[in-house]
Amino acid sequence: MKFPGDTVFPFLLLAAVSAPAVLPARAQLPAGPGRAETEKLCQACHEMAKSVSLRQDRNGWGNTLKKMMVLGMKAPDEDLHLVLAYLSKNFPAEELPPVDVNKARAIQLESRMSLRRSEAAAILRYRKEHGNFRSLEDLLKVPGIDAAKIEAKKHILVFAGAEPRRQEAAPSRE
Ligand code: HEC
Repeated sequence: MKFPGDTVFPFLLLAAVSAPAVLPARAQLPAGPGRAETEKLCQACHEMAKSVSLRQDRNGWGNTLKKMMVLGMKAPDEDLHLVLAYLSKNFPAEELPPVDVNKARAIQLESRMSLRRSEAAAILRYRKEHGNFRSLEDLLKVPGIDAAKIEAKKHILVFAGAEPRRQEAAPSRE
């Protein structure tokens, strides 16, 4: 006798291997407000694992919900709000670590800070000549870089290693 499950199995196996972040089909979703609504709504047409196969911000989840509605999903607005909040909270965009300006390689400066190759090279050259950057102001002294671009990314920058072993002391301003 053949069970339908037999044919599904190799597919699941493949999915598990290629995308380890995906929940197994029967796994529980994390607890929290909106879980029941999400479970009800998001496994009506496909496996839950597919529904939560993405990691994205609220905007991204909003777009996914719109897409599912185009594909025929129907739910009252209150439920949609709950589901949107639930998905954005429990399956958020992957956070990238901050960029350590004193360790970053050229390629990281280029991609994470949207810098041109020449700007990244200028930062590395300056770092080599002057030592570690201590602050944003330090970084803005690098000739040939676009200050506005640097300012726009200041929230992802850290300046580790500039003054090692000074942190436990009370802040002093010599
Ligand atoms: C009315 C049916 C239906 C419902 C309900 C539904 N989906 Fe889908 N979903 C689809 C179809 C059709 C596809 C594309 C074909 C496929 O992958 O099976 C899909 C694909 C997806 C994908 C794969 C990536 C993509 O964008 O195509 C994700 C993620 C997804 N759905 C998330 C969800 C979430 C989250 C919910 C609950 C809020 C949900 N779906 C509810 C029909 C639905």
